[in-house]
Amino acid sequence: MKINERLKKIGDLVEANSFCLDVGCDHALLDIYLVKKNKNIRAVASDIAEGPLEQAKKNIKRERLEKEIEVRLGNGLETYTDEIDTIIISGMGGRNIIGICKNKPKVLKKVKALIISPNNYQEDVKRYLCSNGFYIENEEFVKDKRFIYQIIIFKKGKKKYTKKEYFFGPIFLVKKGPLFREYYEREMKTREILISLLPKNYYYKKYITKKEIQMIKNEIED
Ligand SMILES: C[S@@+](CC[C@H](N)C(=O)[O-])C[C@H]1O[C@@H](n2cnc3c(N)ncnc32)[C@H](O)[C@@H]1O
Repeated sequence: MKINERLKKIGDLVEANSFCLDVGCDHALLDIYLVKKNKNIRAVASDIAEGPLEQAKKNIKRERLEKEIEVRLGNGLETYTDEIDTIIISGMGGRNIIGICKNKPKVLKKVKALIISPNNYQEDVKRYLCSNGFYIENEEFVKDKRFIYQIIIFKKGKKKYTKKEYFFGPIFLVKKGPLFREYYEREMKTREILISLLPKNYYYKKYITKKEIQMIKNEIED
């Protein structure tokens, strides 16, 4: 089955011998890719909605992977069971991801690794998870069609990050590279447009946004 660049990159970041829970699996293409990689990865594909899960079941059956991939219906981390060591949540808004994590703090205590790819509010996700028992082990960008996505790997542990590290991502800041530049050039343009659209009296928002633009300029221009 054909998988897009974004899901493939997420799949390639999963460690061998992992037992994964894919929250919001939709069509389960990621889970199919994972178990077919021959890295002894097992997967539970879960979703809150029956429609996507029906499609997931069909895809899994077509690939004859019913024994390898279990399908579970449920909200967020409700579908977690103790054998799972890695949770993947991708393709959702950052606020939704934080909500899913907040609902099940006990699961966060048990699980070893989180692979998270939020569509937005990435900084909030990093701040939330790093205040709740995790540190950022790795960060990767992936470009799929014309979009650039962040993928963040959280592991159990404690690390302190500066405001700048939360904003850009502590690993991204060290690695940088062409996608870093492209991603933050776009972020800068979005903020410039925002400033031009904000009503005159939004002084504070304008002030913060200008500061962020300056911060981005400093990082991508050296
Ligand atoms: C845009 S799709 C992303 C699918 C896939 N994870 C990806 O990265 O392409 C979002 C999926 O998350 C599911 N979803 C949204 N909120 C959820 C929640 N609280 N618990 C489980 N699944 C959820 C939706 O039903 C949908 O199938």
